[in-house]
Amino acid sequence: MRVKVDADRCQGHAMCTLACPELFLLNDDDGHAYVLDEQVPEQFTEKVRQAQRGCPEDAIQLFEV
Ligand code: F3S
Repeated sequence: MRVKVDADRCQGHAMCTLACPELFLLNDDDGHAYVLDEQVPEQFTEKVRQAQRGCPEDAIQLFEV
């Protein structure tokens, strides 16, 4: 699975970093999220799905590849 944050949608709600701090980080400059690695390690797939469900802006995109 791969994950991306849509920078145009992200408003910095930070729910993603709460759900999966191992992969989602917030940019110090604008407070928007970015991912450390687009390729999701197996052990974090459920946390990343939680992050995607929890984002109020629907900014997190998952790709089942
Ligand atoms: Fe942005 Fe959604 Fe996370 S708005 S900071 S991707 S919870």
